[in-house]
Amino acid sequence: MSSSVLVTGGAGYIGSVTVERLLTADCRVVVLDNLSKGHRSAVPTDVPFVSGDIGDIELVSGLLREHEVDSVIHFAAMSLVGESMEKPAEYYDNNVVRGSRLLSAMSAAGVSKIVFSSSAGVYGEPASVPILETARTEPVNVYGDTKRVFERVLEWQASATGLRHISLRYFNAAGASSDCGEDHSPESHLIPIALQAAAGTRSGLTVFGNDYDTPDGTCIRDYIDVRDLSDAHIAALKALDEGRSGIYNLGNGEGASVLDVIETAEAVSGKKVPWEYGPRREGDPARLVASARLAEEELGWQPLHPDLSDMIGAAWEWMQRFPDGYPD
Ligand code: UFG
Repeated sequence: MSSSVLVTGGAGYIGSVTVERLLTADCRVVVLDNLSKGHRSAVPTDVPFVSGDIGDIELVSGLLREHEVDSVIHFAAMSLVGESMEKPAEYYDNNVVRGSRLLSAMSAAGVSKIVFSSSAGVYGEPASVPILETARTEPVNVYGDTKRVFERVLEWQASATGLRHISLRYFNAAGASSDCGEDHSPESHLIPIALQAAAGTRSGLTVFGNDYDTPDGTCIRDYIDVRDLSDAHIAALKALDEGRSGIYNLGNGEGASVLDVIETAEAVSGKKVPWEYGPRREGDPARLVASARLAEEELGWQPLHPDLSDMIGAAWEWMQRFPDGYPD
């Protein structure tokens, strides 16, 4: 596939693995990232990198023209459920307002294809699992709502301008490639926290709530390997080229509870994860499990690493290689 792709948020966790995959697929890539969460060293030095804001229309339209970009993959966003409940205005500003300016810049530069990082967070507390894309969307946290609102912005922009758009609703990204992994500061995601607790670089882990309506009382999530997520973006670019627009879930269709993750982290690392129960975290739905059949049927995408221990094993290996995370 030879095309030129702008990756916003390409220095972040899922973005950086996707940049690797795009390069392997012979795409030309330019990365735009404000480095608020991303890491400069997660992007290979021979990939054009611009430190800047997706809301800067002049900068972005200039970049699109200069690099003769034909598609955008839009990762850049604030993405923490807990934080979103404390900073709603910042989340809507980043994820909706600035994202809309990115669309204006695309329109100004005549770029009409976008893959958008959406989230299982759009569903809120689902009536049943596995969740189909047609399920009701009633987010229970600010983060999920910003993603749902931006999906709507894309739909309206498409009717007005002919934009082609694919929104990928990720369930819980996990794992690592050999060079790129998860490094947030502070870390708030379950798997890296469990592995840090196993490695002894943090004292332990608090399980947020044990009174959910699930078999062991802890929240259930559908963990999906970041390498598989990245492959779905390549498939989405192809689908856009074929004239398709749409919304697709990306998950394995399997749920794992917080306690399942801890047990797997212990098995993979061969070490104990010290943990205790604490109160619920605000905004957490009890169960999020995907049906990704539509992505399989229409995008021809299939997860290659569906096994939780495979994902956690890849994250553990990355952590052994980079015990302090990225150097910057
Ligand atoms: N959890 C704990 N203790 C911790 C951290 C997390 O018990 O120290 C629990 C959470 O309460 C939740 C589960 O582990 O039940 C997973 O939590 P994460 O923070 O790892 O992930 P989230 O499910 O909150 O959110 C992630 C992404 C979102 C995305 C969502 C989709 O961060 O961007 O998956 O399911 F929207």
